[in-house]
Amino acid sequence: MQPKVFVTRPIPDEALQLLSEVCRVELNRENRILDREELFRGVREAQALLCMLDDRIDDALLEQAPDLKIVANLAVGTDNIDIDACSARGIAVTNTPGVLTEATADLTFALILAVVRRIIPADRYVREGRFNGWGALLFTGGELWGKTLGIIGMGRIGQAVARRGRGFGMKILYHNRRPVEEAIARELEAEYAGLEDVIRRADILTLHLPYSPEVHHLIDRKELQMMKPTAYLINTARGAHVNEKALVEHLREGKIAGAALDVYEHEPALSPELAALDNVVLTPHIGSAALATRIKMAKTAAENIVAALQGRRPSNLLNEEVWKGG
Ligand code: DGY
Repeated sequence: MQPKVFVTRPIPDEALQLLSEVCRVELNRENRILDREELFRGVREAQALLCMLDDRIDDALLEQAPDLKIVANLAVGTDNIDIDACSARGIAVTNTPGVLTEATADLTFALILAVVRRIIPADRYVREGRFNGWGALLFTGGELWGKTLGIIGMGRIGQAVARRGRGFGMKILYHNRRPVEEAIARELEAEYAGLEDVIRRADILTLHLPYSPEVHHLIDRKELQMMKPTAYLINTARGAHVNEKALVEHLREGKIAGAALDVYEHEPALSPELAALDNVVLTPHIGSAALATRIKMAKTAAENIVAALQGRRPSNLLNEEVWKGG
């Protein structure tokens, strides 16, 4: 009998096609987060799991899946997965790095422009029929040219955002665990600085680091206080990097100019105060949601599954120790 793969939400057909050539695909066809019981049921007898960032993959779930060989996350981030628990059970874990870099950088820039140039309230104003003539002070916002783009996390996505920033005539200042290679720093004319320095000097502060408990509330009340009152905060990484309650206070009191968020601390729940603020742009975690990118991500996850089920090392294996042993 073909091995069973459980897919927790609808994914592009191209990936389902790849999977169905070698496995029996069981798919949740509804675009909603499965509850724990549904997930438990889904993974029973599954040899592979194709999951997403709202699915918590922990030891209690693995306990239900004695046949599981691989957990393939449809994301680059893996903070929803207890990788150590998977390793302890000899289960491979994979993600989808690289393919979503440019799409995520595009969305980051779309958010920067939207919040700085007040695109959302301006759009609403026109739709409401309130536009009755050009005005010298109508929807005046900030500008990007000559401003400092502060990037925290200078991996693939951070660098792609920096490249776009250069195109807009911005100065690139960044913080990362370690400086990027000399050639990249030269190409991007990027200056490395300490975390606090970047927070204090940025006109646009944008986050591009993976989530782990060590960086929980990396941007907390203290850091928000350090930001320029004219600065904007952009987050397309993970919501829990930012203390959302403190952010709301700072935005409400005009202590920073604005924020644009694609991710939320208690995602998918939204702090209700955020929706009431005009200096905020909110999108529903769509950083990588360019159709071609989502197809590539899904195919990557499917290819990792097919490889593991055929006894080949999946290209995006994150817990190498499982493979050496297996
Ligand atoms: C990721 O890949 O981690 C994103 O957040 C989902 O697109």
